[in-house]
Formats: sequence, structure tokens, C-alpha cells
Amino acid sequence: MLSLKDKDKPIIQKLLSAGCCSRCVLRFCCVSVQAAYRRPHQHTLQALKAFISDTDNSKPKETVASGCEQENNKSHDVAGPELPEDPPVKRAKLEPGAAVGPSEEEAAAGGGMKDEESRVCVVCLGILQDLCGTAQAAKIAEAVKTEKYEFDTLVLSVSLPAQLCVREHSCWLHVKGELRQKSIAVDKDDVIQVKEAFKWIMQGLVSKELGGVGVVTRSPFEVGVEFTHPETDADCHFLASTCPDCFKPTKNKQSVFTRMAVVKALEKISEPKFLQRYPCPPAQPTSSCIPQDIQCLHVSVFVAGRYNKFCRSLPQTPWLIDGERRMESSVEELIAAPILSAFRADGFNFSSSGREDVDVRTLGNGRPFAMELLNPHRSRLSKVEMKQLQEAINASSEKIRVRDLQIVTRDAMSRMKEGEEEKTKSYTALIWTQKPIQREDITFIDDIKDLTLDQKTPLRVLHRRALAVRQRVIHSMTTRYLDSHHFHLGLKTQAGTYIKEFVHGDFGRTKPNLCDLLKTDTDILELDVESVDVDWPPSIPE
Ligand SMILES: *[C@@H]1O[C@H](CO)[C@@H](O)[C@H](O)[C@H]1NC(C)=O
Ligand SMILES: *[C@@H]1O[C@H](CO)[C@@H](O)[C@H](O)[C@H]1NC(C)=O
Ligand SMILES: *[C@@H]1O[C@H](CO)[C@@H](O)[C@H](O)[C@H]1NC(C)=O
Ligand SMILES: [Zn+2]
Repeated sequence: MLSLKDKDKPIIQKLLSAGCCSRCVLRFCCVSVQAAYRRPHQHTLQALKAFISDTDNSKPKETVASGCEQENNKSHDVAGPELPEDPPVKRAKLEPGAAVGPSEEEAAAGGGMKDEESRVCVVCLGILQDLCGTAQAAKIAEAVKTEKYEFDTLVLSVSLPAQLCVREHSCWLHVKGELRQKSIAVDKDDVIQVKEAFKWIMQGLVSKELGGVGVVTRSPFEVGVEFTHPETDADCHFLASTCPDCFKPTKNKQSVFTRMAVVKALEKISEPKFLQRYPCPPAQPTSSCIPQDIQCLHVSVFVAGRYNKFCRSLPQTPWLIDGERRMESSVEELIAAPILSAFRADGFNFSSSGREDVDVRTLGNGRPFAMELLNPHRSRLSKVEMKQLQEAINASSEKIRVRDLQIVTRDAMSRMKEGEEEKTKSYTALIWTQKPIQREDITFIDDIKDLTLDQKTPLRVLHRRALAVRQRVIHSMTTRYLDSHHFHLGLKTQAGTYIKEFVHGDFGRTKPNLCDLLKTDTDILELDVESVDVDWPPSIPE
């Protein structure tokens, strides 16, 4: 069951006396039988001790070939009780729940074993000891349940203190000498990683605590387990002098001693230098790692639709000047609030196909928009629920309406932005003229087709956009006379055309402009977007 061989004995001996836990011994012996790690570590310790003290070599030992020098077959996880007799263990069957009676366990716990069992492992710092079992699994499950996520599967992610790599390296050098003497070639990569062993043990336990939900290797729902060990944080520090380049301060990282940086530094440091600067085997810690709060994270969900805006005093995004709000709400906030609560998301990013000014309405079929919902606790809504959500948004304010609301993929979202400039948009503008006009004075405008404009970046957006001259096309225009100083102008334009600037000319920065065409000053009093001709997202039949 432990799939160990006689030639592992000196290594096991060495690791145990160095203060390694039984599961770390298995790791360094490259045992890749997952079930071996799932047994109580105290039992494994006893089994290992029995194995190394068993000098009877007459029986063949090699039952399961998964030692380091053999090809590792990690999918080989079938080693169960049906395997041939466990050669290393004579005194008891070690299958959990099998023949081990309480009296036997008690007996084993006595006899001087107690101290050794409660010693914190020098390599895993307790992670593969008592931080890895039913109690920890229950804690993880509890955290997940508390947050009331909806999910089908989850993936466990494990974050370990960086100094574990230093200790692992030290321990590796410690046994490497032994292996070399025996001329056994072993690759460090064959050593089972702490993270891997932790998952082998915990995945099933967490799954059980959560009523059988799949704990898998890829899932949109990630449950993060993090351990720290302040007592040994200084373990990494000597590496800063051996590889200053490896440890560059980065933003949003508390310490330069990240796991990646430490791994890099360990790759660069020579063996003698390491041994000079760091104890081998590592020093005995007094305490176990500290488990941090469990972090749950669901990948983003994307929601798209089209919105109407019926109000001339509503900005698209919160309008803040020096951190102070200028308008009480915004299109994105009105739309987002009900969606966030339906998906129980932590936040959102909003984007849309173009945008309208605060005083511009968006009518017709509306403007396509998409939202990224961050860390949604719910990720699926039925068609009916989606319609109810749409209704809730519609009912929440007179200022906006939403249609075609749907869940989309991340890729689909970028499609909204693609080729945006090629699309057409239709507008209606209320125009004022300085000189009095008659009906006939404006009809010639209806005949203008594909008028190309040169637009210098408007003065009003120059503070956030680079100065450039851009060409835009007005495909067609229609006029509707109101009185001697007013008419309605309908425009069909290339997306990205600045309509206001076309009307008032922006001090000659847009050429030609309506003032030139009508030979009088003109201004724009009202503007409505009539349609945004982007065929995404697909329309949803009522
Ligand atoms: C690994 O084990 C599985 C099942 O025991 C077997 O099907 C597969 O061929 C093995 N792969 C290698 C590389 O030995
Ligand atoms: C989305 O929003 C989060 C925080 O609200 C931000 O950190 C992130 O950069 C945004 N992502 C995109 C693609 O805009
Ligand atoms: C919400 O309002 C839009 C625009 O008026 C309409 O097309 C849509 O059907 C409404 N949605 C619901 C669910 O009432
Ligand atoms: Zn250990």
C-alpha cells in the first residue's frame, strides 16, 4: 500500500530523523498513490517506522512500482485494499476504518510516539499534518456555504508560504546525497508537491462536506485556501543577497518574497552556497502554519442588452468632479443595481456601443451595452427570471428602459466593440438658426448625400482625447420645418461623428458644418439618438 522499497529505507530514516512528517516522507519517496496520503498521518508514521525497522528482507517487497526511479504514473490511483498484502506493515492493517481497533490506536499513541507525532513538520510546516483533514474540510465547506454561492463544481486553490520552497529545497539536498551514494538518479520534479498532496487529501473531504459536489481541477468557482507562517518568514531573506535581481518590489504585493521570486532565486543559487547560508535539514519550527480566511471567487458573468434613455439630465456613467457627484444617478448605475442584486455580484464593469452626452436621449431600439459582473454568487438565470429582471429595471426608473437582456460570453462582449466605427447611427436634432428661415431655405439639405466631414477633436473633449483630425461621413439628412428660427434635422451618420460640432461648427474645427451650409449661425437645442445600428446583442423576441 505504501509502495515503498527496501532502497527507500535509508531515505525514510533520514527524513524522519530530520523532522519530516510521514506524508512529506511519502512525497520525497515519490509515492504517487493518492490513497497513501489519505490515511491518517499518524498511521502512516507507524507504518514507516515498522517498515524501516523490519530487517527481514526475505520476502519480495516490490508490490506497487511507483518509486522515484520508476516511471511515475500519477493516474494510477487504484491502490486499494485489494492490492497484494502490504509488505511494509506487519503490525496492523492500515486501511481507515478497517481492522484498527481503538485499543490498538491507543497503544500506538503511547510508547513515546506522542511527542514525535505532535512535532510540526520541518518541511510542510504542519500543512500535511493537522491542517489537512476533516476539520479543515469542514471549515472550507462552511465558508462556501456562508456565502451562498450557486455552483456545480469547485476547484481548490492552495497558497503556501514562500519559505516552504526554501525548506523543500533544503530537505531535497539533504536526501539527495543519500540517493547519490546509492547511485539512484532522482529528478526533483518527481517529488510530489505539498500542494498536490494537500489536494489529494482534501478534495474528497471537501466534496463530502458539501454533499458530494465535484471538487475538480478546472471550474468557474474557485475556493482559495491560504496558509502563512510568520515564524519562518525570515527563511527567504538570505536569498535577497544571492539574487538581488529576483526580488524587485512590485505594486500591490506586500512582500518581495513571492513564491515565484523565491523559486527563481533557488534555481540560481549554487548548492554549496545554499548549504552555507541555510541549515540542511531545515530547523524545527515551534508552531504550525496559520490558515487564513477562505477566499471564494466565481469567474465573471457577462450580461448584455440595449437601453433607452428618456431623460436629458442623466449621464451615462457616474459624473464626479473632484470626487463629488454632479448628478444623482447614471445610466449604468440604474441598469446595474437590479442586475447586481439578481446575480449577487460584488461589482461590475459597464461598456456600451458608443455613448451619449448627459443631455442626449437614446430612443428607438436603444443602445447596445454589456456588463461584466464580478464575483457573481449566482451565475445562471432562466429565461423567465431574465425577463423578470428586465421588468424590474424598467420599473425602477422612468429615465431608462432595457430590452434584449441576456447572458453572453466574454468573447461576445468584445464583438460589440469590433467595427464599431463602421456602423451607422441615426439622430434627430432640434436646430436654432440666427437668421430667420423659410421652408424653402432648408429643403436642399435633404438632397445632400455622403457628406464627408473633417472633425478636429472637439474642444469639449480635448481634455481627455488626443488632438486629431478625423474624417466622418454623414450619409443622409432630412429636415422638418418648425418656425422661422427652428427646424428638426434628421441625420444618418457614421458612428463616431460629433453631431453637436457639425451643427455649431466648433469655431471652425468641424468642416464643413451646418453654419456654412445655411450661411448663418446655427445651434443645437436638443439631440436624440434614434438608432444605433449594431446587430449585437441578438434581439430577444417578446
Ligand atoms: C497509467 O495507468 C493507467 C491505468 O492504470 C494505464 O491505463 C496507463 O496506460 C498508464 N500509463 C503509463 C504511462 O504507464
Ligand atoms: C473591472 O472592474 C474592476 C474593479 O471594479 C477593475 O479592477 C478591472 O480592471 C475592470 N476590468 C476591466 C476589463 O475593465
Ligand atoms: C422594458 O422596456 C422595453 C422598452 O420599452 C421593452 O421593449 C421591454 O419589453 C420591457 N421589458 C419588460 C420585461 O417589460
Ligand atoms: Zn510535512
